[in-house]
Amino acid sequence: MKILVTGGAGYIGSHTVVELLNNNHEVIIVDNFSNSKPEVLENIKKITGKDFKFYQEDLINKDKINQIFEENQIDAVIDFAAFKAVGESTKIPVKYYINNVSTILFLLEIMDSHNVKKLVFSSSATVYGTPDNVPINEESKTGDTTNPYGTSKFFVEKILKDLYAADNTWDIAILRYFNPVGAHESGLIGEEPVGIPANLMPFITKVAKGELEELKVFGNDYDTLDGTGVRDYIHVVDLAIAHEKALEKLIKEEKGLYIYNIGTGKGYSVLEMIQAFEKANNLTIKYQITERRPGDIAKCYSDTKKAEKELGFVAKKSLEDMCKDSWNFEKNLKK
Ligand code: UD1
Repeated sequence: MKILVTGGAGYIGSHTVVELLNNNHEVIIVDNFSNSKPEVLENIKKITGKDFKFYQEDLINKDKINQIFEENQIDAVIDFAAFKAVGESTKIPVKYYINNVSTILFLLEIMDSHNVKKLVFSSSATVYGTPDNVPINEESKTGDTTNPYGTSKFFVEKILKDLYAADNTWDIAILRYFNPVGAHESGLIGEEPVGIPANLMPFITKVAKGELEELKVFGNDYDTLDGTGVRDYIHVVDLAIAHEKALEKLIKEEKGLYIYNIGTGKGYSVLEMIQAFEKANNLTIKYQITERRPGDIAKCYSDTKKAEKELGFVAKKSLEDMCKDSWNFEKNLKK
């Protein structure tokens, strides 16, 4: 199958492209490098020994994107192209809504006009807002989001549901990611956040490297085993495999709109993450307990039964793999 991957040079996109190429799909990447680098493309080729088409383009340029569909017989789209920094989204919400909502509207219109109706969409567990219960299953309430990034994901989910209700010849998989971490075991691709990282694992690796002095642990008075926040961290390679499995479902089975949580089903606290990272890499991470971060929740982890039953997806990589691979990527990264 010929798969268009928007945002394919990004963190999750690049790992998914590797899985698609390894499974003998043809890949076309569209990326504007707004949060990624051209070297990633070369590194995907090194890892897989395979080639793909690439267009440097912004999804806002409707005519250019339409041209890509004219030039290629695309069978399905995996859409990763979006802004993803929660803090930034509260400062520039309009930009987030334009980039994360308007562009997919254009994309859906173009897909429709070329009769390409298979889509895997990158959503986030953030659509659950503050969950009533953990583990969180796909029936849990959504929409009580706490920032424009999360709201943009919720809006797109709603748009996709409306689209499917109007035209059930679409075939859509919405994947709600929990907390992606880790990197490809080659150390060639991984997460490269711009500026000071907001997420836990990239912050830990910067402290390990000596680029940041110490980790601030945001609160130790939550209702959790050790008082620090609990999350469902999933290795990015497992997450990439989940996309490949979702795509296979859209190719093989009846049309539908499917929603899946993609996590491991296990929650780890911030202190457990620090310890696991130290043990896996034989390093010490300097940290200090500080105030809670506004908007944070105590516990968030996934009920993984639906993805296991319907996609045959079970995350295989361990916490040790996540810690080792994150560090392996970061330590080789040039500033
Ligand atoms: C955040 C986003 C979420 C997004 C996800 C992507 C918020 C409110 N939510 O989730 O929308 O989908 O990233 O991975 O930002 N922590 C520290 N010190 C740090 C950084 C984090 O103690 O310097 C703690 C947090 O309080 C939390 C845990 O580590 O308990 C994980 O934090 P983070 O990696 O930012 O992810 P989330 O908050 O779960």
